[in-house]
Amino acid sequence: MAVVNVNLGDRSYPITISPGCLANIGDLLRNIDPETKILIVSDDHVAALYGQQVLASLEKAGYHAEIFQIRPGEASKTIEVAMSVYTKAIEWGMDRKSSFLALGGGVVGDLTGFVAATYLRGVPFIQVPTSLLAQVDSSVGGKVAVDHPLGKNLIGAFYQPQTVVIDPALLRTLPEREYYAGLAEVIKYGAIADKEFFTRLLTEQEAILARNPLVLGEIIQRSCQIKADIVEKDEKDTSLRMILNFGHTIAHALEAGFGFERYNHGEAVAIGMVGAALLSHRMGFCSPDVVAALRDCLIRFHLPTNVVGGTVIDYRGYMERDKKNIGGETQWILLLDIGQTTICNAVSEAMLQDIMAEIMLPADA
Ligand SMILES: NC(=O)c1ccc[n+]([C@@H]2O[C@H](COP(=O)([O-])OP(=O)(O)OC[C@H]3O[C@@H](n4cnc5c(N)ncnc54)[C@H](O)[C@@H]3O)[C@@H](O)[C@H]2O)c1
Ligand SMILES: [Zn+2]
Repeated sequence: MAVVNVNLGDRSYPITISPGCLANIGDLLRNIDPETKILIVSDDHVAALYGQQVLASLEKAGYHAEIFQIRPGEASKTIEVAMSVYTKAIEWGMDRKSSFLALGGGVVGDLTGFVAATYLRGVPFIQVPTSLLAQVDSSVGGKVAVDHPLGKNLIGAFYQPQTVVIDPALLRTLPEREYYAGLAEVIKYGAIADKEFFTRLLTEQEAILARNPLVLGEIIQRSCQIKADIVEKDEKDTSLRMILNFGHTIAHALEAGFGFERYNHGEAVAIGMVGAALLSHRMGFCSPDVVAALRDCLIRFHLPTNVVGGTVIDYRGYMERDKKNIGGETQWILLLDIGQTTICNAVSEAMLQDIMAEIMLPADA
């Protein structure tokens, strides 16, 4: 069993990673008071697969537990769905010692964390991420939110969980496209912070594609450690945490530009990272080998590296509205090498246009 500690003073918590640990989840919640109520929030897909197992383990450990199910998908990350969880919590009589347990992907995690942060001005919450994206990214770092019709994640808080429990064996049932999308964030960690890890992904390619739970456990552990190191230095996202945004400026524009239909987040991040690497080279920060290495790695993990057959989208408009802008300027996370970044706000319009043309190939290219 591996443990990554997120050290944030009195908001510190452990991330426990172990294949098969879901069956014993009740015993892993040492910092949740015994005999208290725990409301498991999950979506219909995940609850059908793992809900009963979690419920049984919590009850065996002496907790009072119930499951509340939401519909799968981003459309559930709303204030209305949050309201339905509050209603359930009030009707069930949850008090300040009660906890919420998020069993699902990033949608369930972000929504449940938001509810936990606000219910009775904040009660404990437990993250049990079940998608790869949630296991390496959204369950760590304490960003919780719901969407607003005018933009994603606009209503939220920084609210750290009491504990995160990760069972890599759950990834066996994750749909293929979701799995590859999570790998894009894993590759991102290598690209921004750890060249050796990046290389390891290539040497372990077969085991990763076969979803070997032991190898995945190690990959997830390193990913969580990289994110934890960054979050510990910049919990509220005012400086260093920005490097986690590598590839995301272009990704957000592609996601929104194609109406959130053509690309999921990880696929958009894959293309966005290639765009950011091309910019890095064009600005003279890195050699063309860095761009090639990143592109090769993404292809090996079945991720797209350019937009094919896309009408040119108004990416500029989306970039201007990006929440991460400072003083109206886009902060570009660029690569000096695999594993080393720099922040740059001096990317010219002409250069950006060139790069966007390079990653948006016509259909017959
Ligand atoms: N808080 C953060 O720091 C942060 C970071 C990145 C992304 N996010 C958020 O995360 C969300 C995306 O998360 P996601 O990609 O996990 O999407 P998701 O929660 O919609 O899950 C993707 C799909 O996989 C299914 N699923 C999950 N685990 C499964 C399993 N083990 N077996 C079978 N099916 C499974 C779900 O039911 C869903 O249909 C977005 O809302 C995004 O804004 C938050
Ligand atoms: Zn991301």
